[in-house]
Amino acid sequence: MKMLNIKDIQNLESKEVTTLYRSHISKDLTNIFKVLGYNNFQPTSAYGLKLFEADNYLLDFSSGLGVLNLGHNHKVVKNAQQYCIDENIPNVYKLGVNRYQAGLAHNLSQVTPAQFTSTTLATSGAEAIEAAIKLTSKYFKKERQIYLRASNSYHGKTTGALSLTDAENFGDSFHTFLPNENIINYKYNDSQDLEKIVTQIGHNIAAIIIEPIQGQTHEVMSKEFALKINELAKKFKFLILCDEIKSGMWRSGTFLAHTKVGLNPDLITISKSLGGGLKAISAMLTTEEIFTRAYRKKSEANLHTSTFSGMGHSCVIASQVIAFMAEPEFTTKLKDAISYAKVRLQNLKNQFPNKIISIDGDGLLLGLSLDLNYFSQIYSRDTKIILHREINILLMASILNELRKKKIYTCFSGTRPNLLYFMPPLIVNNEEIDQFIEAVQSVLDDSTLARLIRFTFDQIK
Ligand SMILES: Cc1ncc(COP(=O)(O)O)c(C=O)c1O
Repeated sequence: MKMLNIKDIQNLESKEVTTLYRSHISKDLTNIFKVLGYNNFQPTSAYGLKLFEADNYLLDFSSGLGVLNLGHNHKVVKNAQQYCIDENIPNVYKLGVNRYQAGLAHNLSQVTPAQFTSTTLATSGAEAIEAAIKLTSKYFKKERQIYLRASNSYHGKTTGALSLTDAENFGDSFHTFLPNENIINYKYNDSQDLEKIVTQIGHNIAAIIIEPIQGQTHEVMSKEFALKINELAKKFKFLILCDEIKSGMWRSGTFLAHTKVGLNPDLITISKSLGGGLKAISAMLTTEEIFTRAYRKKSEANLHTSTFSGMGHSCVIASQVIAFMAEPEFTTKLKDAISYAKVRLQNLKNQFPNKIISIDGDGLLLGLSLDLNYFSQIYSRDTKIILHREINILLMASILNELRKKKIYTCFSGTRPNLLYFMPPLIVNNEEIDQFIEAVQSVLDDSTLARLIRFTFDQIK
């Protein structure tokens, strides 16, 4: 038996890491990372936007899909962690009033709309969604069965959260917790479609679930749609579950994105950057009235708990993160970064009007919608090339690989494979934004695109 210690792991050769990863984690993922050119980049340190491997670095414009709003290893997070260690703060204290949980819940109440005084802590985004589903079914004593979920929605991969996830048919090969017949899809931002559905089945609807900015497509909820949801929920007395797991934590420029469009949710879920990129922590918030109507009896107080929810160090770090990000100094800088990014991205679009269709999203949850059909014409104006999803994905993968060579690390999703994510940590500075823009400029050059498309077609031949 040979055990690896931290130093051994830090010093493994790139090839050895790949062999271990391929053998013990996933052969298929190893191959996918190879297409992206990420098989040989195995960072051993990270700070701010930078991921370092020896002298080489990449600028992270994916933010770990929302976990790194403060960037990698932010000093506020490290100091909080160090404080916990130096002071021997109890990480686990289950059967008693826990001061760290209380402190975090207080901080959350300071930044959420006033009525959200009840907090349930959990460890992952999906678990916060589970807590919301369970609370909803208790609230209606299981009498209302129907849940409305949006086209292209993503709420996590536990069986309950999967039932509410439409994106990429992730749930299709599994038994999901909520039966299919109780799930109705509505079209995101389509008030007429929603009204039609709700008026048909109104009083059997338990809840509607919605992301204020869709994590997979970066579509932003319109004010009109938010008001329609409010109106229908009030009339038919169902709950509004607002999933802020990706859009929250100031990603949109403000703590919770739904407050920008006037949605009136009953339940809110938060996670990802709540743990400062260091801890796995999530929260489900609701009003005192809804919580006590759902969980009436003392004996029901522990119907939703889990071993690792509300760990002391996680709560301390989350409390510090919220306190830091709520400061005007942070939010003012963030607003400047958003303005600068929007101007630079708009200029980029003006420079490539045929290649960039639109800039989608809000705050720093943005993306460039690329016209992949137009790209294929650059490669061959005579032969009609039919693009389909797999080709789109491969083409985007080769674009990511090219960006990587320019030191930019970002991503896209299979739900909308022509959307190149622009999702940097919120601490991004103007030079880093410039570096992203320059990298994309060089990739969108005709000769580079023609080479990437040729490469893509060679792969599928
Ligand atoms: C909007 C949204 N909801 C829920 C989840 C699930 O969170 P987790 O992966 O922590 O379970 C995610 C994760 O990406 C998300 O983006």
